[in-house]
Amino acid sequence: MSDQDESRLRVGMIGYEFMGAAHSQAWRTVNHAFDLPLTAEMAVICGRDEARVSAAAAKLGWARHSTDWRELVERDDIDLIDICSPGNTHAEIALAALAAGKHVLCEKPLANSVAEAREMVRAAQRAQTQGVRVMCGFNYRRTPAVALMRELIAAGRIGEIRHVRAVYLQDWIVDPQFPLVWRLRREIAGSGSLGDIGAHIVDLTQFVTGQSISTVSALTETFVKRRPLPTAAAGLAGQGGEELGDVTVDDAALFLARLDGGAIGTYEATRFATGRKNGMRVEINGSRGSLVFDFERMNELEFYDATLPATEQGFTRILVTEPDHPYMAAWWPAGHPIGYEHTFTHEMRDLIEALAAKEDPTPSFADALQVQLVLDAVERSAASGSWTEVEGGAP
Ligand SMILES: NC(=O)c1ccc[n+]([C@@H]2O[C@H](COP(=O)([O-])OP(=O)(O)OC[C@H]3O[C@@H](n4cnc5c(N)ncnc54)[C@H](O)[C@@H]3O)[C@@H](O)[C@H]2O)c1
Repeated sequence: MSDQDESRLRVGMIGYEFMGAAHSQAWRTVNHAFDLPLTAEMAVICGRDEARVSAAAAKLGWARHSTDWRELVERDDIDLIDICSPGNTHAEIALAALAAGKHVLCEKPLANSVAEAREMVRAAQRAQTQGVRVMCGFNYRRTPAVALMRELIAAGRIGEIRHVRAVYLQDWIVDPQFPLVWRLRREIAGSGSLGDIGAHIVDLTQFVTGQSISTVSALTETFVKRRPLPTAAAGLAGQGGEELGDVTVDDAALFLARLDGGAIGTYEATRFATGRKNGMRVEINGSRGSLVFDFERMNELEFYDATLPATEQGFTRILVTEPDHPYMAAWWPAGHPIGYEHTFTHEMRDLIEALAAKEDPTPSFADALQVQLVLDAVERSAASGSWTEVEGGAP
């Protein structure tokens, strides 16, 4: 256990590329945007390469750096471990950090398998008895328009939910010459589009509807089965060489779903939607209205209120920038939009507030295990060609 005082939260973060940069931005800004009971300190950033991690520390604003996450999780001057490395590292790092009494924020998907995720939930439950808390980084929940969507559904404004329609569309590997980066290797990423982006729409739709996916009928496809091996360490991009290697994850995952509150859903996650860069779109149809969110227009929410007189009905574009909208009082005057990075600042705000209140932040590891169980059911259904039940969530 760290010697945490009651006013600060000393963070040790692992990984310094995409999510490392996004989380750094959030840790840097969170106490400047929000009045919070704890001050986040960007204490130590960790990576495997001394030169690169030291450059990242300087660029991203970390006080110190380390090349060994095992040393980092054992340090007495760290209160929280923030895991921004690929899925194959999540379980091992989180288990060690929890055993050392550190709070843990872990990027999504929680793990590479249900077995790992269950072990992480068990470890979190043990650690919780010592006041140690965990959170999984499903940041899109913290988009103000998404939070508003959840509030409107909870208030009954669209009535009984009938349809959930969710897509997450990208196109960054359409080119067959794009190299075999870690996201295309099952032993590192766990799965492909399914876990990388499908996990987000599973979490987001379950979050806004309050319903859990119970059964699925799925298909997955890998369009390009072999790709050039990367010549340099690569995150999202990188150069390919002459030699080819096998793609061992899905390029696209589609599924039908039944949710436990009676809704039915369609889900599509793909990296082959040519022209779509980060096209996440969710539409919910209920007995009294509909709500539509599109991340490319993340400051807006469309609302159709079917209780209005027929002559006044139509989709209303709500600009979610009013101070009374979720999170927005901290930012700019109405009509001045926010961006992708704010979802992470909001994540850190909610995490800090929960830690200070000695409450469990959400989504918990148990919530993230439930997403993992859906991913697992999708893979089993795609393999068998049958409707498949999502297993129970108890660890
Ligand atoms: N919330 C989101 O919207 C979102 C977006 C992208 C990625 N992610 C998740 O974040 C995680 C990281 O993805 P990314 O896009 O930042 O990847 P990335 O390739 O950009 O960065 C990964 C980082 O982890 C480091 N790393 C890899 N193995 C390591 C090890 N064994 N020890 C220490 N450091 C190690 C790499 O050096 C690199 O700094 C993944 O779990 C991914 O699914 C979440």
